[in-house]
Amino acid sequence: MAPPTPSSPAGQRRCGKTEREWFHILVNPEDHYADLPVARGLAQSYLDDTRARLARGAPVLPAGLAPFPWSPERFAERLERLYADDLAAGNAYRPADDAVYTTRARVLERLRQRAPFHQTDGCWLRGVAGVASGPLSDVEAVLLRILYEELGEGDAAKNHAALYTSMLATWGIHLPPVTSAAYAHDARFLDSAFSLPVFQLAVSLFPRAFLPEILGMTLYLEWTVPTCLPMVKRMVRHGLDPLFFRVHLGTDNVDTGHGLLARVRPHFAHTPAVSASP
Ligand SMILES: [Fe+2]
Ligand SMILES: [Fe+2]
Repeated sequence: MAPPTPSSPAGQRRCGKTEREWFHILVNPEDHYADLPVARGLAQSYLDDTRARLARGAPVLPAGLAPFPWSPERFAERLERLYADDLAAGNAYRPADDAVYTTRARVLERLRQRAPFHQTDGCWLRGVAGVASGPLSDVEAVLLRILYEELGEGDAAKNHAALYTSMLATWGIHLPPVTSAAYAHDARFLDSAFSLPVFQLAVSLFPRAFLPEILGMTLYLEWTVPTCLPMVKRMVRHGLDPLFFRVHLGTDNVDTGHGLLARVRPHFAHTPAVSASP
């Protein structure tokens, strides 16, 4: 496989394609094997650009997301504080005071723009299943369990992405199939709606190279479950059933759910590469 080339300007214009084009490629990887070496560079380009921005001092990250010297104690303290802050913010949020989401139409537009992210829920973990060629490591077992639950444990009605699709359809938002070219080029989406899913999809294809990042993404996505609270409240205010987000408040909870699983210890015996990372 050819080595990644970018190191910006903007990932050599995101490795020669738009994020819409990449989205379509990355949700259909077996139809696009020739593009996958570049996808590795694409994934790396997002990480390199973010590190470069951090090195320049921008953006200023919330305290809970800034780098810190790692130790088990600091890690635990950091997680507890992050959770408490997210929960306090979620509890304090009052949809009546929200200056942006003042109408049902605005809330629905937000939900539409988040579709490429939520309709690929779990995708950042999809490559983990292809790594094992023997007994699963502790970390792989945890990640696969989360992935299995994101995918619905064999029950189509419980698949998180499908839940989002049916939730949108309830309100008359009908989108083309996620794997179709029509979806990636649907003019109702902003281009930026594809940035986060493309990053996740690209990273997911290289689960060994990006295992530390995948662990961090898992923790970020699962541990921050109280950030669903504002959306639940604003949807209720505008007469929309927030089923998808309520499900996540349940499945991602930090006591027994994905939040707890995501808190896998980076010093697990079978993951020396992770324990060696910053
Ligand atoms: Fe999910
Ligand atoms: Fe989850």
